[in-house]
Amino acid sequence: MIYDVSVQPAESEEQALVAGLFQFYTYHFSQFEPPSSPRFEVDARGQFEAYPDLASYWPSPGRATADRWALVIRVGGRVAGFALLNQLSHRGGAVERNMAEMFVLAKYRRAGVASAAVVQIFDAHPGQWEVAIAQRNAPAIAFWPRVLANEPGVHQLREQAGDGIHWTGPIWSFRYQRP
Ligand SMILES: CC(C)(COP(=O)(O)OP(=O)(O)OC[C@H]1O[C@@H](n2cnc3c(N)ncnc32)[C@H](O)[C@@H]1OP(=O)(O)O)[C@@H](O)C(=O)NCCC(=O)NCCS
Repeated sequence: MIYDVSVQPAESEEQALVAGLFQFYTYHFSQFEPPSSPRFEVDARGQFEAYPDLASYWPSPGRATADRWALVIRVGGRVAGFALLNQLSHRGGAVERNMAEMFVLAKYRRAGVASAAVVQIFDAHPGQWEVAIAQRNAPAIAFWPRVLANEPGVHQLREQAGDGIHWTGPIWSFRYQRP
């Protein structure tokens, strides 16, 4: 079945929506952490730590040029996930577009939603891209090479290993040009 996937910039009033989805995203990552770790703890309200400086992903009068983007992924008009883009390379320095976070709710997974969303995101943001994947995140390790290899707009695709200090896992870099 082909789903009607759309990706739109998150409206300013959708900041709470993205913050809420980010809680589930954090929950996903918490499964990779050992019980002895002090990370991924919840507070008295059962909430994980909020995304640092989430508000900076929305345009503000103080910032002349956009360098961060918050996007909402929908399926048939219903919220199915989010993505955050910025210009921070996991190899240090800057890159035109970095897929900082991307998340699809469990219900919508393995139905081609992320694949369709990624194409829309790339089409709206052509240029030099990076996607860094945490080594222990098996679904993402499987997902990204497949989607990048199948996308005709992706050129000069290169995989590099993170340095193990700033990043542990593959960092894919490529140029995206609308086909
Ligand atoms: C990674 C993620 C975005 C994939 O979303 P999705 O909508 O399920 O992806 P798609 O349905 O488009 O998957 C396309 C292909 O990727 C591969 N893939 C995706 N998820 C996979 C998994 N859990 N295990 C193995 N392969 C997987 C498959 O080849 C799949 O095609 P198939 O279903 O026909 O076999 C989603 O699992 C997610 O949100 N995970 C939690 C957050 C996260 O890890 N984000 C990525 C950070 S880099």
